[in-house]
Amino acid sequence: MKKLAILGSTGSIGHSTLSICESFPDRYQVVSLAAGQNLEVAFAQCLRWKPRVISLGTEELAAALTTRLKAEGITSIEVVHGTAGTIHAATLPEVDFVVSAIVGVAGLEATYAAVKAGKTIGLANKECLVAAGELIIAAAHQHNIALLPIDSEHNAVHQCMRGGTPQEVKQVWLTASGGPFRNTPLADFEHITPAQALKHPTWVMGQRITIDSATMMNKGFEVIEACRLFSLPPAQVRTIIHPQSTVHSLVEFVDGSILAQISVTDMRLPILYALAYPERVPSDLTFDLTALSQLDFSTPDLTRFPCLRLAYEAAEAGGKVCIALNAADEIAVAAFLEGHIPFLGIPRTIEQVLTLTSGSRPSSISEVLEADLAARQCAREVIARQSIGVLR
Ligand SMILES: NC(=O)c1ccc[n+]([C@@H]2O[C@H](COP(=O)([O-])OP(=O)(O)OC[C@H]3O[C@@H](n4cnc5c(N)ncnc54)[C@H](OP(=O)(O)O)[C@@H]3O)[C@@H](O)[C@H]2O)c1
Repeated sequence: MKKLAILGSTGSIGHSTLSICESFPDRYQVVSLAAGQNLEVAFAQCLRWKPRVISLGTEELAAALTTRLKAEGITSIEVVHGTAGTIHAATLPEVDFVVSAIVGVAGLEATYAAVKAGKTIGLANKECLVAAGELIIAAAHQHNIALLPIDSEHNAVHQCMRGGTPQEVKQVWLTASGGPFRNTPLADFEHITPAQALKHPTWVMGQRITIDSATMMNKGFEVIEACRLFSLPPAQVRTIIHPQSTVHSLVEFVDGSILAQISVTDMRLPILYALAYPERVPSDLTFDLTALSQLDFSTPDLTRFPCLRLAYEAAEAGGKVCIALNAADEIAVAAFLEGHIPFLGIPRTIEQVLTLTSGSRPSSISEVLEADLAARQCAREVIARQSIGVLR
């Protein structure tokens, strides 16, 4: 029986993880949960899963949850809050597997603490690896723990990597749907509206990740994530546009063989793979092979997708440049959605922030968080200048 901490239990990955726990009650036991603001779902999860510990975003929410649980006659669940609470949930002695699925850098400290506490990690949160991958990977090596990717592309690469040794890998290919603008004339990019950018052709996701898919910054983050997870230089992590999103990623070996991972597009499968690793367990997540009747692949155009170019440059620089890439993107995407900058203002803002960022490497998580705050402030200043036309 694996004993789980699920960080981000009220989110999309959290729900899919609990669905796997529901399907395999004799394999996985929920020990602790962590969430942000969603009191209703957290309460329902407490009733269903009776975790030993649950953490919520604030003291007020934790107090409200305690009151509601008491009214149900439940006093055995320890309700904690904030970053300290999330760390507590992630590092309980009886937990042996932590699903890291809090969105953004909010999940960083607990993930790092879980690594240092020797827990196996199922990693969905890509921002953790982009901002602090060097520190997290070093700690994972030091404590000899496995970081098992849940992001579907990296999960696919992890599966394909089992077909050879690291020395036999020539390069990995991360597939990308290409988003809604892969065929849009370049001249029209300046006039793309938030409503157009939020219409993703194949996936329904949160707003930030949908815009990141439209700019291909999401793929850029995944390039950095792959470099860190698989100890590869950026030149060995390639991206390829595959609009059907059926092949989740590929690994090319030195003899010319290419292994691809294909499966149903359902996040429960990569979660199950990570939870069960190194075993494979039977599931009903079957794939209809007739869906392979058309598979298209093409090279992304970096002039059309400058965010992807910026991510490759950040991957080469590492350290604070990667932190700034993530922070500036988050601020720029929010400014685009609020109508303060045009679509192409997103890469322009990020490029300006990267130019103003030193390439030094933080030596602690608190330095990562400081650099993150500084980059966010820098991005706001760049956007303020952009809005009054200085950068146009
Ligand atoms: N969804 C996917 O298919 C997918 C695929 C690959 C990778 N990922 C990555 O996985 C991560 C989670 O994605 P998601 O789609 O599950 O996101 P989501 O649906 O937005 O859920 C985010 C979770 O994080 C929690 N949270 C946010 N801020 C928090 C804070 N300060 N403290 C504690 N918890 C906090 C939220 O809690 P409340 O809702 O209670 O506020 C929620 O449980 C992201 O990094 C994403 O890029 C997602």
